[in-house]
Amino acid sequence: MSITVHPVSPALGAEVAGVDLSRRLGAEEFDTVHRALLDHGVVFLRDQEVQPRDLVDFAARFGPLNVHPMMKPLDGYPAILEIVKNPEDRHNFGGSWHTDLSYLARPALASLLYAREIPPVGGDTLFASMYLAYEALSDGLKGLLSGLRAVHDTRRIYTPDAQRRLGGTIGDAASMRRNRPEDQHEEAVHPVVRTHPETGRRALYVNCNFTSRFEDMTEAESAPLLDFLFTHLQRPEFTCRFRWTEGAVALWDNRCTQHYALNDYHGHRRVMHRVSIEGDRPA
Ligand code: SIN
Repeated sequence: MSITVHPVSPALGAEVAGVDLSRRLGAEEFDTVHRALLDHGVVFLRDQEVQPRDLVDFAARFGPLNVHPMMKPLDGYPAILEIVKNPEDRHNFGGSWHTDLSYLARPALASLLYAREIPPVGGDTLFASMYLAYEALSDGLKGLLSGLRAVHDTRRIYTPDAQRRLGGTIGDAASMRRNRPEDQHEEAVHPVVRTHPETGRRALYVNCNFTSRFEDMTEAESAPLLDFLFTHLQRPEFTCRFRWTEGAVALWDNRCTQHYALNDYHGHRRVMHRVSIEGDRPA
């Protein structure tokens, strides 16, 4: 079967057809999917009938897998995070713009999300290109940002106070389980503009879930510019929106994109399996 790649928006995203993740892809097939990921930032593969093992095996071809430092994994699969929202839950996981695991020294290179159970309508995921967000800035601001580094800290969302402030973003306790006490946190410092190690393009690398301040500045001093960037990076022309179908897979490059899980399907259940691949130190 030949693989086809169809962009879903000028900004980012492509539907890739002709790939069956329930069997090991040949080297050429894998290279085609990898190339599509680099070209489009996020790729969508529909109608996959896969087991947790298949997801892990496919993701591991990109590199070592992350074990989520804050949330309990799927039983028997340390690298799979089961993202669940039950009909009675009000909050969802990932319901604000972010890139995965940016609070680690080696944040996720990419993440793969598999739709096991989806609501009849709603629960779409939005993606945004951080290449475009960076390129749309003025030369003056690009210059200023290129000299800055920023702190990424789990305390932005993984504390009871933060949860109250945000109205909850990481799932109700009944549906997703923490694996860390609330007083432990993860923190890392990264450049505000990073160069993608494979494409050589520059991308904005701050996100409203985890970026708390610029290095050597207070949160209050950092807030005006960070707030500007958090608003700027979600401009509609930088985004695409994926309507899930059961068995669909999204694979996104966390080095140059952000995503947002819409929480518009109260009263219905949504279950996704996520695997993240460890990346390099942003530079
Ligand atoms: C995530 O942020 O990884 C979850 C995305 C989603 O559930 O659509």
